[in-house]
Amino acid sequence: MAEHPAYPVGLRLTGRRTVVLGGGQVAQRRLPALIAAGADIHLVSPEATPSVEAMADAGEITWHRRPYAEGDLATAWYALIATSDTEANTRASAEAEAHRVWCVRSDDADAATAWTPATGTSEGVTVAVLTTEARGRDPRRTAAIRDAVVEGLRDGTLVAPHHRTRVPGVALVGGGPGDPDLITVRGRRLLAEADVVIADRLGPRDLLAELPPHVEVIDAAKIPYGRFMAQEAINNALIEHAKQGKSVVRLKGGDPYVFGRGMEELHALAEAGIPCTVVPGISSSISVPGAAGIPVTHRGVAHEFTVVSGHVAPDDERSLVDWPALAKLTGTLVVLMGVDKIGRIAETLVAHGKSPDTPVALVQEGTTAAQRRVDATLATVAETVAAQEVRPPAVIVIGEVVAVGPRGTA
Ligand SMILES: C[S@@+](CC[C@H](N)C(=O)[O-])C[C@H]1O[C@@H](n2cnc3c(N)ncnc32)[C@H](O)[C@@H]1O
Repeated sequence: MAEHPAYPVGLRLTGRRTVVLGGGQVAQRRLPALIAAGADIHLVSPEATPSVEAMADAGEITWHRRPYAEGDLATAWYALIATSDTEANTRASAEAEAHRVWCVRSDDADAATAWTPATGTSEGVTVAVLTTEARGRDPRRTAAIRDAVVEGLRDGTLVAPHHRTRVPGVALVGGGPGDPDLITVRGRRLLAEADVVIADRLGPRDLLAELPPHVEVIDAAKIPYGRFMAQEAINNALIEHAKQGKSVVRLKGGDPYVFGRGMEELHALAEAGIPCTVVPGISSSISVPGAAGIPVTHRGVAHEFTVVSGHVAPDDERSLVDWPALAKLTGTLVVLMGVDKIGRIAETLVAHGKSPDTPVALVQEGTTAAQRRVDATLATVAETVAAQEVRPPAVIVIGEVVAVGPRGTA
C-alpha cells in the first residue's frame, strides 16, 4: 500500500458506541479522553488496571469481563484494540475492517486504520499532532511538539489571540513575588494577550520587558491622581481603558487579595459594568520565606501561621491587628509591610509575653536576584534592621520556624 499521510479529523463520539479491547495501561491512558468526548464506551477485557476498574465502578464505562469475541465490533463507530494477545488483536482488527469501523491498534500501527495523535488542550483548543507516515512514527517527537505548542499557549510564549471570543475587560492578575517564573500560566497568558498592562512596583517586572511593542505598559505608581486618591486614579485608568474596548491586565505583586486591594478594584469595575476576572498569585507571605529557606509551618514546631500587615504601628488607632493576642500564639507570625515599624512591633510582642529570644528573619526582595536575608531576635531586630539597612519590600518572619532550616539562627 502506498504511504500517504493520515487524514486528520475530529471524531464527535458523544453517545456513540466505542469499543475498547484490553484493560491495561494503553486503555488506562486513552480512556479519559474518550470519556471526556462523551463516548458510549464498552470495555471488553477479562482484567483491568485499578484505575480502569475505578472508571467502570464510577459508571463512566461499561465493562464486559471476558475476552474479545467475534461480533464485539459489529456495531461500533470506533475501536481501540489494545489486548496483549496479538492473535486476538488481528482477528478484531479484521472484524473492524469488515464492518468499516475505524480502529486503532496499540501493537501494530501499520495494520491499524486510525492513529491516535499526541493531544493536549489549552483554553478550549485541542492540539493534536500526528506524524505523516506509519514508518516514520516517532511518538516522542510528536509528544514533544504537542508539549511545546500546549505549553506555549498556556504560558503565553506562543501568542494566539482570541480574535472571535476575546472579551474586553480587566484581569486582576497576581504576578507572584517577583521571579518571573512564579506567575501562574493563566496570568502569563493573559499578559501576553493584553493591550494594556497596569503594573505595580512589586511583582514580576521582568515580564514587562517581554511584551510585544504594541502593548501599552503603565506604571501604577506614576498614574497622575490630582484630586483623586491614588487608588481611585488606578480604578479610573482601568475603567477608561476597558471602556475603549481594550483587554486590560492589572498586574499585581503576590496575590491580588492579600493586601493587594483586589476587591476594591473589582468593586469599582463592577460598578462601572466592566467584566473582570481575578487570577490568583503566589503570595510573598509564604513564598518569600520559603525562598530564603524558612517554612511557615514545620512538624512539631508550628501548627499555624498568621499573616499580618505592619504598615501602621501597634499603638496606632488605625491598626486592626490584635498584637497582644498575637503575642500569645505559638505559631509563626508573618509580617508584611513592617520594616519601618518592626521596632514597635517587637516591643509590643515582648511586652505581651513573647520571648525576646524569639528568632526573627527579614527577607528583602525575595525570589529576585537581589534577595537578601537578615536574621535577628525580637530583642535585637530593631538595631539589626538599622545597622544592616534592611529596606522594603521585605517579609518578616517571627517564630521558631526561622531556626529549622540549614541557615537558621539556632
Ligand atoms: C502591599 S503588600 C502586597 C502583598 C502581595 N499582594 C502578596 O500577596 O505578596 C506589599 C508587601 O509584600 C511584601 N512583599 C511583596 N513582594 C515581596 C518580595 N519579593 N520580597 C519581600 N517582600 C515582599 C512586602 O512586605 C511588601 O511590603
